[in-house]
Amino acid sequence: MILVTGGAGYIGSHTVILLIEAGYDIVIFDNFSNASLTAHQRVEQIVGETIPLVKGDIRNKEDLEKLFTDYDINSVIHFAGLKAVGESVEQPLKYYDNNVVGTLTLCEVMQAHGCKSIIFSSSATVYGDPETTPITEDFPLSATNPYGRSKLMIEEILRDLYVSDPTWQVILLRYFNPVGAHISGDIGEDPSGIPNNLMPFIAQTAVGKRESLSVFGDDYDTIDGTGVRDYIHVMDLAEGHVKALNILHTIGKVMTINLGTGKGYSVLEMIKAFEDASGKKVPYHIAPRRAGDIATCYADAQYAKNVLGWSATRGIEVMCIDTWRWQSQNPNGYKEN
Ligand code: NAD
Ligand code: UFG
Repeated sequence: MILVTGGAGYIGSHTVILLIEAGYDIVIFDNFSNASLTAHQRVEQIVGETIPLVKGDIRNKEDLEKLFTDYDINSVIHFAGLKAVGESVEQPLKYYDNNVVGTLTLCEVMQAHGCKSIIFSSSATVYGDPETTPITEDFPLSATNPYGRSKLMIEEILRDLYVSDPTWQVILLRYFNPVGAHISGDIGEDPSGIPNNLMPFIAQTAVGKRESLSVFGDDYDTIDGTGVRDYIHVMDLAEGHVKALNILHTIGKVMTINLGTGKGYSVLEMIKAFEDASGKKVPYHIAPRRAGDIATCYADAQYAKNVLGWSATRGIEVMCIDTWRWQSQNPNGYKEN
Protein backbone atom coordinates (compact mmCIF):
# COMPACT_ATOMS: atom_id res chain seq x y z
CA MET A 1 0.00 0.00 0.00
CA ILE A 2 1.15 3.54 -0.81
CA LEU A 3 1.03 6.27 1.83
CA VAL A 4 0.33 9.72 0.37
CA THR A 5 1.18 12.41 2.92
CA GLY A 6 -0.47 15.72 2.11
CA GLY A 7 -2.77 13.83 -0.24
CA ALA A 8 -5.68 16.20 0.38
CA GLY A 9 -3.70 19.20 -0.93
CA TYR A 10 -3.39 20.62 -4.42
CA ILE A 11 -0.80 18.37 -6.06
CA GLY A 12 -1.62 15.42 -3.81
CA SER A 13 -5.33 15.34 -4.68
CA HIS A 14 -4.59 15.29 -8.42
CA THR A 15 -1.95 12.60 -8.00
CA VAL A 16 -4.30 10.44 -5.92
CA ILE A 17 -6.70 10.25 -8.86
CA LEU A 18 -4.02 8.85 -11.16
CA LEU A 19 -2.70 6.46 -8.51
CA ILE A 20 -6.16 4.97 -8.06
CA GLU A 21 -6.65 4.81 -11.83
CA ALA A 22 -3.30 3.02 -12.12
CA GLY A 23 -4.55 0.42 -9.64
CA TYR A 24 -2.51 1.38 -6.57
CA ASP A 25 -3.92 0.86 -3.08
CA ILE A 26 -3.40 4.06 -1.16
CA VAL A 27 -3.99 5.74 2.16
CA ILE A 28 -3.93 9.51 2.56
CA PHE A 29 -2.50 11.18 5.65
CA ASP A 30 -3.10 14.91 6.06
CA ASN A 31 -3.54 17.34 8.95
CA PHE A 32 -5.77 19.64 6.85
CA SER A 33 -3.67 22.69 7.68
CA ASN A 34 -4.02 23.70 4.02
CA ALA A 35 -6.70 21.41 2.61
CA SER A 36 -10.41 20.88 2.50
CA LEU A 37 -12.43 17.73 3.08
CA THR A 38 -14.52 18.79 0.09
CA ALA A 39 -11.50 18.26 -2.16
CA HIS A 40 -11.15 14.72 -0.89
CA GLN A 41 -14.86 14.03 -1.37
CA ARG A 42 -14.67 15.29 -4.95
CA VAL A 43 -11.68 13.07 -5.65
CA GLU A 44 -13.73 10.14 -4.40
CA GLN A 45 -16.55 11.15 -6.75
CA ILE A 46 -14.15 11.38 -9.69
CA VAL A 47 -12.66 7.93 -9.12
CA GLY A 48 -15.95 6.41 -7.96
CA GLU A 49 -14.63 4.81 -4.80
CA THR A 50 -13.90 5.51 -1.16
CA ILE A 51 -10.27 6.33 -0.47
CA PRO A 52 -8.86 5.70 3.00
CA LEU A 53 -8.00 8.97 4.72
CA VAL A 54 -6.38 9.42 8.10
CA LYS A 55 -6.25 12.81 9.76
CA GLY A 56 -2.95 13.40 11.49
CA ASP A 57 0.31 15.31 11.59
CA ILE A 58 3.66 14.10 10.29
CA ARG A 59 5.30 15.67 13.36
CA ASN A 60 3.27 13.45 15.65
CA LYS A 61 5.03 10.10 16.11
CA GLU A 62 2.00 8.47 17.74
CA ASP A 63 -0.21 9.40 14.76
CA LEU A 64 2.34 7.87 12.41
CA GLU A 65 2.93 4.76 14.53
CA LYS A 66 -0.78 4.05 14.48
CA LEU A 67 -0.93 4.67 10.73
CA PHE A 68 1.92 2.27 9.98
CA THR A 69 0.42 -0.32 12.33
CA ASP A 70 -3.07 -0.08 10.86
CA TYR A 71 -1.95 -0.10 7.20
CA ASP A 72 0.61 -2.25 5.42
CA ILE A 73 2.59 0.57 3.84
CA ASN A 74 5.52 -0.21 1.55
CA SER A 75 6.14 3.18 -0.12
CA VAL A 76 5.51 6.82 0.66
CA ILE A 77 4.81 9.76 -1.61
CA HIS A 78 5.58 12.68 0.65
CA PHE A 79 3.73 15.88 -0.30
CA ALA A 80 2.96 17.15 3.22
CA GLY A 81 4.61 20.48 3.88
CA LEU A 82 4.15 24.21 4.11
CA LYS A 83 5.00 26.12 0.94
CA ALA A 84 4.51 29.89 1.27
CA VAL A 85 7.87 31.57 0.70
CA GLY A 86 6.93 34.92 2.33
CA GLU A 87 5.44 33.26 5.40
CA SER A 88 8.58 31.15 5.76
CA VAL A 89 10.67 34.34 6.05
CA GLU A 90 8.38 35.64 8.80
CA GLN A 91 8.01 32.33 10.62
CA PRO A 92 11.13 30.25 9.93
CA LEU A 93 10.72 28.02 12.98
CA LYS A 94 7.25 27.00 11.87
CA TYR A 95 8.66 25.97 8.47
CA TYR A 96 11.66 24.08 9.83
CA ASP A 97 9.45 22.35 12.36
CA ASN A 98 6.71 21.38 9.93
CA ASN A 99 8.85 20.50 6.93
CA VAL A 100 12.17 19.29 8.37
CA VAL A 101 11.12 17.87 11.75
CA GLY A 102 7.99 16.43 10.14
CA THR A 103 10.05 14.61 7.51
CA LEU A 104 12.54 13.37 10.11
CA THR A 105 9.72 11.94 12.18
CA LEU A 106 8.17 10.34 9.11
CA CYS A 107 11.49 8.72 8.14
CA GLU A 108 12.06 7.42 11.68
CA VAL A 109 8.68 5.72 11.73
CA MET A 110 9.17 4.40 8.19
CA GLN A 111 12.51 2.91 9.20
CA ALA A 112 11.05 1.34 12.35
CA HIS A 113 8.41 -0.35 10.20
CA GLY A 114 10.82 -1.51 7.48
CA CYS A 115 9.35 0.86 4.89
CA LYS A 116 12.28 2.50 3.14
CA SER A 117 10.89 3.79 -0.16
CA ILE A 118 10.06 7.47 -0.53
CA ILE A 119 9.29 9.98 -3.25
CA PHE A 120 9.81 13.51 -1.99
CA SER A 121 8.30 16.78 -3.26
CA SER A 122 11.27 19.06 -3.77
CA SER A 123 11.28 22.27 -5.74
CA ALA A 124 13.15 24.21 -8.39
CA THR A 125 13.71 26.74 -5.64
CA VAL A 126 16.75 24.64 -4.60
CA TYR A 127 18.60 25.99 -7.66
CA GLY A 128 18.53 29.52 -6.19
CA ASP A 129 19.35 32.06 -8.91
CA PRO A 130 20.77 29.82 -11.66
CA GLU A 131 23.61 31.20 -13.79
CA THR A 132 22.10 29.82 -16.98
CA THR A 133 18.96 28.07 -18.22
CA PRO A 134 17.74 25.43 -18.89
CA ILE A 135 18.52 23.97 -15.48
CA THR A 136 19.91 20.44 -15.24
CA GLU A 137 19.80 18.38 -12.07
CA ASP A 138 23.54 18.79 -11.46
CA PHE A 139 23.36 22.60 -11.18
CA PRO A 140 24.70 24.09 -7.92
CA LEU A 141 22.16 24.25 -5.11
CA SER A 142 21.34 27.18 -2.86
CA ALA A 143 18.39 28.67 -1.10
CA THR A 144 17.35 32.23 -0.47
CA ASN A 145 14.59 31.71 2.09
CA PRO A 146 13.65 29.28 4.89
CA TYR A 147 11.13 27.41 2.69
CA GLY A 148 13.81 26.70 0.10
CA ARG A 149 16.32 25.81 2.81
CA SER A 150 13.84 23.35 4.31
CA LYS A 151 13.65 21.59 0.92
CA LEU A 152 17.45 21.55 0.59
CA MET A 153 17.86 20.19 4.12
CA ILE A 154 15.35 17.41 3.49
CA GLU A 155 17.09 16.47 0.24
CA GLU A 156 20.37 16.21 2.17
CA ILE A 157 18.79 14.25 5.01
CA LEU A 158 17.40 11.73 2.52
CA ARG A 159 20.77 11.44 0.77
CA ASP A 160 22.49 10.85 4.12
CA LEU A 161 19.93 8.23 4.99
CA TYR A 162 20.69 6.39 1.76
CA VAL A 163 24.44 6.52 2.42
CA SER A 164 23.87 5.02 5.85
CA ASP A 165 21.60 2.30 4.51
CA PRO A 166 21.49 1.69 0.72
CA THR A 167 18.35 -0.39 1.06
CA TRP A 168 16.52 2.95 1.15
CA GLN A 169 14.96 3.92 -2.18
CA VAL A 170 14.70 7.66 -2.65
CA ILE A 171 13.46 9.81 -5.52
CA LEU A 172 13.67 13.57 -5.17
CA LEU A 173 11.30 15.27 -7.59
CA ARG A 174 12.04 18.94 -8.19
CA TYR A 175 8.86 20.59 -9.41
CA PHE A 176 8.92 23.76 -11.45
CA ASN A 177 5.69 25.84 -11.35
CA PRO A 178 2.58 23.66 -10.97
CA VAL A 179 -0.63 25.15 -12.41
CA GLY A 180 -3.89 23.90 -13.89
CA ALA A 181 -6.57 21.60 -12.59
CA HIS A 182 -8.26 18.27 -13.21
CA ILE A 183 -10.23 18.27 -16.46
CA SER A 184 -13.54 17.91 -14.56
CA GLY A 185 -13.11 21.36 -13.03
CA ASP A 186 -14.12 19.81 -9.69
CA ILE A 187 -10.74 20.06 -8.03
CA GLY A 188 -8.00 22.65 -8.35
CA GLU A 189 -5.76 25.03 -6.47
CA ASP A 190 -7.54 26.89 -3.67
CA PRO A 191 -5.10 29.22 -1.93
CA SER A 192 -6.24 30.70 1.36
CA GLY A 193 -6.38 34.50 1.38
CA ILE A 194 -4.64 36.55 -1.28
CA PRO A 195 -2.79 34.24 -3.69
CA ASN A 196 1.01 34.51 -3.69
CA ASN A 197 1.42 32.70 -6.98
CA LEU A 198 0.79 34.05 -10.43
CA MET A 199 -1.74 31.61 -11.89
CA PRO A 200 -4.29 31.67 -9.03
CA PHE A 201 -4.03 35.46 -8.94
CA ILE A 202 -4.67 35.71 -12.67
CA ALA A 203 -7.62 33.31 -12.37
CA GLN A 204 -9.17 35.24 -9.47
CA THR A 205 -8.73 38.49 -11.38
CA ALA A 206 -10.38 37.04 -14.47
CA VAL A 207 -13.35 35.84 -12.42
CA GLY A 208 -13.73 39.28 -10.83
CA LYS A 209 -12.57 38.49 -7.30
CA ARG A 210 -9.48 40.74 -7.63
CA GLU A 211 -9.37 44.10 -9.32
CA SER A 212 -5.94 44.08 -10.89
CA LEU A 213 -2.88 41.87 -11.05
CA SER A 214 0.45 43.38 -9.94
CA VAL A 215 3.13 42.39 -12.43
CA PHE A 216 6.25 42.27 -10.25
CA GLY A 217 8.85 44.03 -12.40
CA ASP A 218 9.11 44.70 -16.13
CA ASP A 219 12.84 45.37 -16.27
CA TYR A 220 14.25 41.85 -16.09
CA ASP A 221 16.53 40.64 -18.84
CA THR A 222 13.80 38.55 -20.48
CA ILE A 223 11.73 38.56 -23.66
CA ASP A 224 9.44 41.38 -22.42
CA GLY A 225 11.04 42.35 -19.11
CA THR A 226 8.76 40.22 -16.91
CA GLY A 227 9.77 37.06 -15.06
CA VAL A 228 9.95 33.78 -16.98
CA ARG A 229 8.96 30.44 -15.41
CA ASP A 230 8.39 26.84 -16.40
CA TYR A 231 4.67 26.31 -15.75
CA ILE A 232 3.68 22.65 -15.64
CA HIS A 233 0.17 21.22 -15.66
CA VAL A 234 -0.63 19.53 -12.35
CA MET A 235 -1.92 16.43 -14.18
CA ASP A 236 1.42 16.11 -16.00
CA LEU A 237 3.11 16.45 -12.62
CA ALA A 238 0.78 13.78 -11.23
CA GLU A 239 1.68 11.45 -14.10
CA GLY A 240 5.35 12.02 -13.28
CA HIS A 241 4.69 10.68 -9.77
CA VAL A 242 3.04 7.53 -11.07
CA LYS A 243 6.03 6.95 -13.36
CA ALA A 244 8.42 7.55 -10.48
CA LEU A 245 6.50 5.10 -8.30
CA ASN A 246 6.73 2.49 -11.06
CA ILE A 247 10.55 2.54 -10.87
CA LEU A 248 11.02 3.33 -7.17
CA HIS A 249 11.76 -0.26 -6.19
CA THR A 250 14.34 -0.81 -8.91
CA ILE A 251 16.70 2.13 -8.44
CA GLY A 252 20.09 1.64 -6.89
CA LYS A 253 20.80 5.26 -5.98
CA VAL A 254 19.11 8.44 -4.87
CA MET A 255 17.47 9.80 -8.00
CA THR A 256 16.96 13.53 -8.42
CA ILE A 257 14.63 14.48 -11.23
CA ASN A 258 13.35 17.80 -12.57
CA LEU A 259 9.64 17.82 -13.34
CA GLY A 260 9.15 20.70 -15.74
CA THR A 261 8.20 21.19 -19.37
CA GLY A 262 11.49 22.68 -20.49
CA LYS A 263 9.72 25.82 -21.73
CA GLY A 264 9.54 29.22 -20.08
CA TYR A 265 6.76 31.79 -20.33
CA SER A 266 6.79 35.39 -19.16
CA VAL A 267 4.16 36.92 -16.89
CA LEU A 268 2.73 38.91 -19.81
CA GLU A 269 2.58 35.78 -21.97
CA MET A 270 0.66 34.02 -19.21
CA ILE A 271 -1.82 36.88 -18.92
CA LYS A 272 -2.42 36.84 -22.67
CA ALA A 273 -2.83 33.05 -22.76
CA PHE A 274 -5.31 33.22 -19.90
CA GLU A 275 -7.32 35.96 -21.57
CA ASP A 276 -7.49 33.87 -24.73
CA ALA A 277 -8.56 30.74 -22.84
CA SER A 278 -11.17 32.44 -20.66
CA GLY A 279 -12.46 35.16 -22.94
CA LYS A 280 -12.05 37.52 -19.94
CA LYS A 281 -9.88 40.58 -19.49
CA VAL A 282 -7.19 40.35 -16.85
CA PRO A 283 -6.51 43.93 -15.76
CA TYR A 284 -2.91 44.39 -14.63
CA HIS A 285 -0.43 47.07 -13.68
CA ILE A 286 3.34 47.07 -13.47
CA ALA A 287 4.58 47.01 -9.86
CA PRO A 288 8.08 46.93 -8.35
CA ARG A 289 10.05 43.68 -8.41
CA ARG A 290 9.18 41.24 -5.62
CA ALA A 291 12.06 40.64 -3.20
CA GLY A 292 13.82 37.34 -3.84
CA ASP A 293 12.45 36.82 -7.36
CA ILE A 294 14.74 35.74 -10.17
CA ALA A 295 14.48 36.64 -13.86
CA THR A 296 14.29 33.24 -15.50
CA CYS A 297 13.78 29.67 -14.37
CA TYR A 298 13.03 26.68 -16.56
CA ALA A 299 13.96 23.05 -16.57
CA ASP A 300 16.03 20.82 -18.72
CA ALA A 301 13.46 18.01 -18.83
CA GLN A 302 15.61 15.43 -20.61
CA TYR A 303 16.59 13.35 -17.58
CA ALA A 304 12.95 12.74 -16.63
CA LYS A 305 12.34 11.55 -20.17
CA ASN A 306 15.34 9.23 -20.04
CA VAL A 307 14.73 7.63 -16.65
CA LEU A 308 10.95 7.84 -16.26
CA GLY A 309 9.89 7.78 -19.90
CA TRP A 310 7.88 10.84 -18.94
CA SER A 311 7.47 14.28 -20.41
CA ALA A 312 4.77 16.89 -20.03
CA THR A 313 2.13 16.79 -22.76
CA ARG A 314 -0.18 19.65 -21.79
CA GLY A 315 0.73 23.08 -23.12
CA ILE A 316 0.05 26.56 -21.85
CA GLU A 317 -3.38 26.66 -23.53
CA VAL A 318 -4.62 23.55 -21.70
CA MET A 319 -3.12 24.85 -18.45
CA CYS A 320 -5.17 28.04 -18.79
CA ILE A 321 -8.38 26.35 -20.01
CA ASP A 322 -8.33 23.86 -17.12
CA THR A 323 -7.53 26.53 -14.54
CA TRP A 324 -10.38 28.64 -15.88
CA ARG A 325 -12.86 25.75 -15.77
CA TRP A 326 -12.01 25.15 -12.09
CA GLN A 327 -12.03 28.87 -11.21
CA SER A 328 -15.24 29.74 -13.04
CA GLN A 329 -17.13 26.70 -11.68
CA ASN A 330 -15.80 27.35 -8.16
CA PRO A 331 -15.29 31.11 -7.78
CA ASN A 332 -14.83 30.69 -4.03
CA GLY A 333 -12.74 27.54 -4.23
CA TYR A 334 -13.97 24.79 -1.93
CA LYS A 335 -15.93 27.22 0.24
CA GLU A 336 -19.70 27.32 -0.28
CA ASN A 337 -20.41 29.44 -3.32
P1 NAD B 1 -0.69 22.06 -0.50
O1 NAD B 1 -0.53 23.00 0.65
O2 NAD B 1 -1.93 22.17 -1.33
O3 NAD B 1 -0.58 20.55 0.01
C1 NAD B 1 0.19 20.19 1.12
C2 NAD B 1 -0.67 19.31 2.00
O4 NAD B 1 0.08 18.90 3.15
C3 NAD B 1 -1.92 20.04 2.54
O5 NAD B 1 -3.05 19.23 2.29
C4 NAD B 1 -1.65 20.20 4.02
O6 NAD B 1 -2.84 20.19 4.78
C5 NAD B 1 -0.74 19.03 4.29
N1 NAD B 1 0.19 19.22 5.42
C6 NAD B 1 1.01 20.28 5.66
N2 NAD B 1 1.70 20.08 6.79
C7 NAD B 1 1.34 18.86 7.27
C8 NAD B 1 1.71 18.12 8.42
N3 NAD B 1 2.58 18.60 9.31
N4 NAD B 1 1.15 16.91 8.61
C9 NAD B 1 0.23 16.42 7.73
N5 NAD B 1 -0.17 17.10 6.63
C10 NAD B 1 0.39 18.31 6.41
O7 NAD B 1 0.61 22.21 -1.41
P2 NAD B 1 0.92 21.58 -2.84
O8 NAD B 1 1.02 22.70 -3.80
O9 NAD B 1 0.04 20.45 -3.11
O10 NAD B 1 2.40 21.08 -2.58
C11 NAD B 1 2.71 19.74 -2.22
C12 NAD B 1 4.20 19.64 -1.98
O11 NAD B 1 4.90 20.04 -3.14
C13 NAD B 1 4.71 20.52 -0.84
O12 NAD B 1 5.71 19.82 -0.14
C14 NAD B 1 5.32 21.69 -1.56
O13 NAD B 1 6.35 22.31 -0.83
C15 NAD B 1 5.86 21.03 -2.82
N6 NAD B 1 6.01 21.97 -3.95
C16 NAD B 1 4.94 22.73 -4.33
C17 NAD B 1 5.09 23.64 -5.36
C18 NAD B 1 3.95 24.53 -5.76
O14 NAD B 1 4.21 25.59 -6.34
N7 NAD B 1 2.70 24.17 -5.52
C19 NAD B 1 6.32 23.77 -6.02
C20 NAD B 1 7.37 22.95 -5.62
C21 NAD B 1 7.21 22.05 -4.57
N1 UFG C 1 4.18 37.24 -10.29
C1 UFG C 1 3.60 38.47 -10.55
N2 UFG C 1 2.49 38.83 -9.86
C2 UFG C 1 1.94 38.05 -8.90
C3 UFG C 1 2.53 36.79 -8.61
C4 UFG C 1 3.67 36.43 -9.33
O1 UFG C 1 4.07 39.21 -11.42
O2 UFG C 1 0.95 38.45 -8.27
C5 UFG C 1 5.34 36.83 -11.08
C6 UFG C 1 6.60 36.57 -10.26
O3 UFG C 1 7.32 37.75 -10.10
C7 UFG C 1 7.30 35.51 -11.11
C8 UFG C 1 6.17 34.73 -11.74
O4 UFG C 1 5.03 35.58 -11.69
O5 UFG C 1 8.03 36.13 -12.14
C9 UFG C 1 5.83 33.43 -11.02
O6 UFG C 1 5.62 33.69 -9.64
P1 UFG C 1 5.02 32.59 -8.66
O7 UFG C 1 4.88 33.22 -7.31
O8 UFG C 1 3.80 31.99 -9.26
O9 UFG C 1 6.12 31.44 -8.65
P2 UFG C 1 7.65 31.48 -8.24
O10 UFG C 1 8.42 31.02 -9.42
O11 UFG C 1 8.03 32.76 -7.62
O12 UFG C 1 7.68 30.41 -7.07
C10 UFG C 1 7.11 29.12 -7.23
C11 UFG C 1 6.63 28.59 -5.89
C12 UFG C 1 7.80 28.36 -4.98
C13 UFG C 1 8.77 27.47 -5.64
C14 UFG C 1 9.17 28.01 -6.98
C15 UFG C 1 10.06 27.06 -7.71
O13 UFG C 1 5.77 29.52 -5.27
O14 UFG C 1 7.35 27.75 -3.82
O15 UFG C 1 8.02 28.24 -7.79
O16 UFG C 1 9.45 25.83 -7.80
F1 UFG C 1 9.84 27.35 -4.86
